[in-house]
Amino acid sequence: DWNSGNVIADQVARIRERVGDSRVICGLSGGVDSAVAAALVHRAVGDQLVCIFVDHGLLRQDERRQVEEDFVASTGVRLVTVDAVEQFLDALAGVTDPETKRKIIGREFIRCFENAAEALVLEAAADGAPIKFLVQGTLYPDVVESGGGSGTANIKSHHNVGGLPEDLQFELVEPLRALFKDEVRAIGRELGLPEPIVARQPFPGPGLGIRIIGEVTRERLDLLRLADAIVRAELTDAGLDADIWQCPVVLLADVRSVGVQGDGRTYGHPIVLRPVSSEDAMTADWSRLPYDVLARISNRITNEVPGVNRVVLDVTSKPPGTIEWE
Ligand code: XMP
Repeated sequence: DWNSGNVIADQVARIRERVGDSRVICGLSGGVDSAVAAALVHRAVGDQLVCIFVDHGLLRQDERRQVEEDFVASTGVRLVTVDAVEQFLDALAGVTDPETKRKIIGREFIRCFENAAEALVLEAAADGAPIKFLVQGTLYPDVVESGGGSGTANIKSHHNVGGLPEDLQFELVEPLRALFKDEVRAIGRELGLPEPIVARQPFPGPGLGIRIIGEVTRERLDLLRLADAIVRAELTDAGLDADIWQCPVVLLADVRSVGVQGDGRTYGHPIVLRPVSSEDAMTADWSRLPYDVLARISNRITNEVPGVNRVVLDVTSKPPGTIEWE
């Protein structure tokens, strides 16, 4: 009989046994998998674990605070944050091609993580307790997708910003390898993790960087972050979170259209809403959101987000459309 308390007790015992006195590092993304994996390992070995969180500036509103404050408060995990916002903005300057953005974001992410890990490795070695293990939040569907192989750094490394290079010489600890997402959420709740992290919908590793169609700039990220926060708040208030797989909010930064606001003509950017329902993101249908919810979102975005004068709804299924616009 599946029971999150049993899984936790079992994993804690195994992790303790395997890790012994060694130290462990874990990258946090802000998402549920890495948070639950880290919390489990922390329950097992306490401060032998250090987590690394890279703020690439492409996160949604409040996500950094949720990790740095709420996650840390609920677990007691030792956390190192890498503030890499400038570095990512510089690297992304002038870039508009989606795959190039992904490559750059992935590359910079690995750089940041490696630098932070290296500093921790040196510090730990000086303490006489080397870091031997790396925690990954690999789930059962990821294992199946990869053909069941073990010990790989990350099967989605081409797709996932969490993917790490092979020359980071750590043994992997993957306490969620036998679990499905809803089981991971149950364990996260049992471990007392903050609800916004446990309930977080899928969010791509490259974050808001692939939701700005056009060049990524600080100003555009600020606009998109605001629009995205409005959409999330309204969907949650309307009780729609459980019906929606995810809802990308996309800024068409290179498109302008004419509008009228107050007694002036505007020439602003459109925001696209892309709410979808799906089982596994392989296929998806556009969500039939209630008109009154759409109306509220549209009113709020056009009133509250400077430079945005139009909100449009994406009514394409997948296929032929992908969930993300890039
Ligand atoms: P698409 O757009 O391909 O998205 O229909 C399918 C799912 O994958 C997510 N996605 C990504 N996740 N790195 C990620 O970690 C990426 O580069 C990436 N691109 C898309 C997307 O949010 C959806 O859940």
